[in-house]
Amino acid sequence: MSRLSVAIDGPAGAGKSTVARQVAKRLGLTYVDTGAMYRAITWKALQNRIDLAEEGSLAQLVRETRIRLKTGRRGMEVWVDGMLVSEAIRAPAVTSNVSAVAGQPEVRRVLVEKQQELAREGGVVMDGRDIGTRVLPEAEIKVFLTASIEERARRRYHEWVRRGYSIDMEDLKKEISMRDEKDKNREHSPLRPAEDAVHLDTTGLSVEEVVSSILELCRTKV
Ligand code: C5P
Repeated sequence: MSRLSVAIDGPAGAGKSTVARQVAKRLGLTYVDTGAMYRAITWKALQNRIDLAEEGSLAQLVRETRIRLKTGRRGMEVWVDGMLVSEAIRAPAVTSNVSAVAGQPEVRRVLVEKQQELAREGGVVMDGRDIGTRVLPEAEIKVFLTASIEERARRRYHEWVRRGYSIDMEDLKKEISMRDEKDKNREHSPLRPAEDAVHLDTTGLSVEEVVSSILELCRTKV
């Protein structure tokens, strides 16, 4: 299965990264978290106090930035210009601004090119919003993961609590819905399922159940 490409798309909190990481591990493929790349650019733009509505500065920033995704012992590591930012890119300020950055066409052009380069030889499980539609339209397996807003907020809530933060469930729901709206309604590569994607509603399903369904789909392709 080493050359297989698996595209996993869906809204925020649908469980994409947890599931994609597991699928990659079980099949011996490389996991690519494309959301982390948009977050990395957002993080750097905030650090450099760049006006996020200013297309030219963001375009220059994305062209100059080196992003590396590395699977380390403690999960996936994200490096920006030689600095480890895996935790920093999950900060609330990054989360609330990332959709605006991801809506800029030049940011998408540069990052999509990087993502396609990472998948050139196949052998990847990639998750995001436009993987099946734009980044890897030829992927052998395309999955669109969804879950109810309550379930997605609950999962994010537990994730934050595990990492030692206290957070309000209603605020989380609002943040997730707002991000979904922006991602679905943007002009460039909006969040939507590819025509040939398999839809999986993960509400009430365990990680293992979702992973098994995707592994089963992969088996039909070899
Ligand atoms: O997956 P994650 O929630 O970390 O993604 C953060 C944001 O990055 C999304 O809300 C979306 O705005 C953007 N994104 C995107 N295209 C992708 C992956 C993420 O626009 N392929």
